[in-house]
Amino acid sequence: MRILLFGGTGTLGRHIVLKSLRSGYKIRCVVRNLSKAKFLQNWGAEIVYGDLTKIETIPSLLKDVDIVIDASTSRSESSLKLKEIDWEAKRKLLKLIEIAEIRHFIFFSLLTSENYKSVFFLKVKRGIEKLIYSSKIDYTIFKFDGFLQNLIRQYAIPILEKERIWITDESRPFFYLDSADVATICLESLRSKNAKNKTVTITDTKPWFLTDIINLCENLSGQTAVTSKISNGVLKLLQQIANKFEWSWSVSNSLSFVKFLECEKINSQKLDRGMFKVKMQELVPLNTYFKDYFKNILVTLKDITYQQQQKQKDILF
Ligand SMILES: NC(=O)c1ccc[n+]([C@@H]2O[C@H](COP(=O)([O-])OP(=O)(O)OC[C@H]3O[C@@H](n4cnc5c(N)ncnc54)[C@H](OP(=O)(O)O)[C@@H]3O)[C@@H](O)[C@H]2O)c1
Repeated sequence: MRILLFGGTGTLGRHIVLKSLRSGYKIRCVVRNLSKAKFLQNWGAEIVYGDLTKIETIPSLLKDVDIVIDASTSRSESSLKLKEIDWEAKRKLLKLIEIAEIRHFIFFSLLTSENYKSVFFLKVKRGIEKLIYSSKIDYTIFKFDGFLQNLIRQYAIPILEKERIWITDESRPFFYLDSADVATICLESLRSKNAKNKTVTITDTKPWFLTDIINLCENLSGQTAVTSKISNGVLKLLQQIANKFEWSWSVSNSLSFVKFLECEKINSQKLDRGMFKVKMQELVPLNTYFKDYFKNILVTLKDITYQQQQKQKDILF
């Protein structure tokens, strides 16, 4: 079976490439920059040029393809890009998939995307989910909260580097996952009849609040986090102001996530787990992931300090 993958260079996409190749699938990755994606070719994937915003580059790539996996996103840094890639381009992509009679389409969305119409990114995700439901395409939609990998950049590194971390009022915990685990579940779904035309919610068993994550980083790093609190009220006010000016729409869009943080508690019991062979205890939990990260990084930092001290000694003598 041949897979066509969008987003192969991304956090999730690269794991999908590795796992597909290990499972014996042929995988063709659509990339915007062939030299940047050379590593995927070195792993054994086929790389082809394509850009979702230049939709005319896509139809020929769908030839001889059985499954399309879409792990691409605009990273939501700008609402214009978000609209262009995650909404307009994906709508066109769905049409092309329907015309090409692709057997199966896999899409990734966010937990509770249906609840927050005022958060543009979630509205866009929900819009695409609805288009998939009303299409003739066989699909699997995976919904989850966020990746452990992003937490390193957001919290672990700033704590190690004593940078300020802004924290908000939070009533909603998050269920983080290792992107490698999401890729495993995605590949398992291809072997399961249960997954066809299903929306699958995947979560860790433990919900994490931001303060739990900061406490964990502090314990593992031996450092104290420099934090400042900003209330949701202030964030909402900033969003209303930013919303008024076209130049600050992307700021407004980011700030709208405050509504997402304020949502009702998610009942983790209700979430759909273990649909495939992957058992929840096989998934990497946040504390294990962070333990490994801090163990490795602290050893590396010790080595660097030692080498610097040796260099200083060499200069002195
Ligand atoms: N990150 C999370 O915490 C999270 C949480 C829930 C759901 N998800 C969903 O999971 C999926 C994967 O997310 P991720 O975090 O792995 O994404 P990511 O690391 O930001 O990677 C995005 C990928 O999309 C590609 N891309 C962007 N614009 C494109 C275009 N115009 N044409 C073709 N490819 C394009 C990028 O290619 P370049 O290398 O060329 O930039 C990159 O490979 C997304 O659907 C996302 O919404 C993510």
